Amino acid sequence: MSDHVSVGAIWAQDRDGIIGADGGMLWRVPADFRHFRAATLGCAVVMGRTTWESIGCALPGREGIVLTRRSDWEAPGALVAHDLRTGLSEARDAVGQLGPDPRDGDYRRLPRVWIIGGGLVYAQALAVGVVDHLVISTIDIDAAARAKARGVPPRTLTRAPLLGEQWRHARDRSDPPGSWRPASGDAAWRVDHWLRLTRGGVWST
Ligand SMILES: NC(=O)c1ccc[n+]([C@@H]2O[C@H](COP(=O)([O-])OP(=O)(O)OC[C@H]3O[C@@H](n4cnc5c(N)ncnc54)[C@H](OP(=O)(O)O)[C@@H]3O)[C@@H](O)[C@H]2O)c1
Repeated sequence: MSDHVSVGAIWAQDRDGIIGADGGMLWRVPADFRHFRAATLGCAVVMGRTTWESIGCALPGREGIVLTRRSDWEAPGALVAHDLRTGLSEARDAVGQLGPDPRDGDYRRLPRVWIIGGGLVYAQALAVGVVDHLVISTIDIDAAARAKARGVPPRTLTRAPLLGEQWRHARDRSDPPGSWRPASGDAAWRVDHWLRLTRGGVWST
């Protein structure tokens, strides 16, 4: 499609695919936060209401779109949408207003519309096939053990979606196999890129 706007999803997971628990994060890795900021600066970011509440405010330098089914709910400093399709449409429109891409280096090769979580929103976006590019940080940590040590109930663990055959690992853009970036805060970490093999989801964004 000529008007196709590439959509990315970006998340950090532990070695077992856990992304959070009980509405919050289970680690602190500042270098990964900087990576997230560098990837999403000057972009539109779509998130679920739970993730919005865990972040606690609008992300500076980004246009936020928060998904909720609550009709009279507001997110100060962000837009609110009541379904994923509308949220992505608003994100695509917002990018047109955001001006030149402020990102550096390879980050400029990434989409300017992002799904930034959480588990429910990643799962839906991947299921309907609207995401083209995944940027996944793996944190060298056992998040379930951390959650247990903190008394967080296992049922509240949130996981990243499993990737199906439609995803190709972009080896040339990812960290070398088996390697870790130096520890930052709680742990070492690495970044992998995945590209969707076929374009055109169940519905167009
Ligand atoms: N590690 C990472 O990179 C990362 C990134 C982001 C989040 N997280 C973690 O993920 C967890 C949160 O994920 P989650 O799955 O619990 O929640 P979530 O996906 O952040 O938000 C779920 C909420 O979003 C709204 N929503 C979702 N899909 C919708 C749709 N199609 N239309 C309208 N509204 C929709 C609903 O809000 P209402 O209930 O208001 O209707 C739903 O309850 C937290 O632990 C967070 O820390 C981790």
